[in-house]
Amino acid sequence: MQFGRTTLSKFVIEQTRGQHSEMGALLIDVAAAVKTISAMVGKGALSGFSGALESTNVQGEVQKKLDVLTNEAMLRHCEWGGQLAGMASEEMDEPYRIPEKYPRGRYLLIFDPLDGSSNSDVNVSVGTIFSILQRDEAGDAEAADYLQPGHRQLAAGYAIYGPATMLVLTVGTGTHGFTLDRESGNFQLTHPDIKVPEDTREFAINTSNERFWEPPVQRYVEECKAGKTGVRGADFNMRWIASMVAEVHRILMRGGIFMYPKDNKDPAKPGRLRLMYEANPMAMLIAQAGGAASTGRQRIVDVAPEALHQRVPVILGSKNEVERVERYHHEYDTGADRPFVSPLFSDRSLFRDPA
Ligand code: AHG
Ligand code: MN
Ligand code: MN
Repeated sequence: MQFGRTTLSKFVIEQTRGQHSEMGALLIDVAAAVKTISAMVGKGALSGFSGALESTNVQGEVQKKLDVLTNEAMLRHCEWGGQLAGMASEEMDEPYRIPEKYPRGRYLLIFDPLDGSSNSDVNVSVGTIFSILQRDEAGDAEAADYLQPGHRQLAAGYAIYGPATMLVLTVGTGTHGFTLDRESGNFQLTHPDIKVPEDTREFAINTSNERFWEPPVQRYVEECKAGKTGVRGADFNMRWIASMVAEVHRILMRGGIFMYPKDNKDPAKPGRLRLMYEANPMAMLIAQAGGAASTGRQRIVDVAPEALHQRVPVILGSKNEVERVERYHHEYDTGADRPFVSPLFSDRSLFRDPA
């Protein structure tokens, strides 16, 4: 145990002093929720909470007992303090109204209480992701208050429940990592001012979806796989944990690119990950660490949300690789990646033969 380290509480109070001190108090409650969840998931099969429920969430996904319990933990720890106008989560169809007995504030807390929950029964790292927005004044939030683009986030973070529990946080002044000291119960600042290397030779994508991807993503991954023998002239390594928090954490620690791109597997879903409580908070954390986060066609944080649970393509990580994938999308959209096909007869041409 070290006495000299900065605790999460000290960091948050110092960073939010003044205009956003109420948000500081909220972040300390989020950290308390995360400690509860860490203890819960850390028990593994001994907790008796493993397995699925009969219920499905708004996205039609089978809920796990832990999805519901971790959602409750977030609500109970954060509802009472008077900082919030409301909360929304992956596991609740509609936003949560703060109970009458508690005061209201102006902040909005949006979260994925247990990301990667399909991994919880196999003892792989899972996490909690959260985003904080605000409305103009204190009071009960309307559904429309939540629909703000990611660049309006005041704070974002995730907890990762791995061999160590960590909380990685930004309040707009860099991305900082805290490790839970299980003896003292404190989060200690262990990774100040994390920076994502601009270049990488490591990519992460679920290649079982390859045939459903758009051509620019197929092109990028093909080139990575061709390694030294292809246009990249360098070998690439691949990782896929199927737990976004673990994936993003690895990228913050050593660089890389993570993609859950648009695919045509289910035309009703323009991606797998959810904008408000997965993509936006991770995009802010990555940007604050010097990386980039894109849909392939625009910055994730510039996507104007239309619905709380909407999905979005996600391409994030080391800046130069994300920009390359964006360029491939642009070249595809303009036909520049097919220089030998006359634009008059490309599949986006007005003159395309309808047959
Ligand atoms: P959740 O458990 O909150 O539904 O999210 C899981 C997400 C994310 O963690 C991961 O990147 C992705 O789902 C994995 O999806 P596939 O199983 O389709 O690869
Ligand atoms: Mn998730
Ligand atoms: Mn989840």
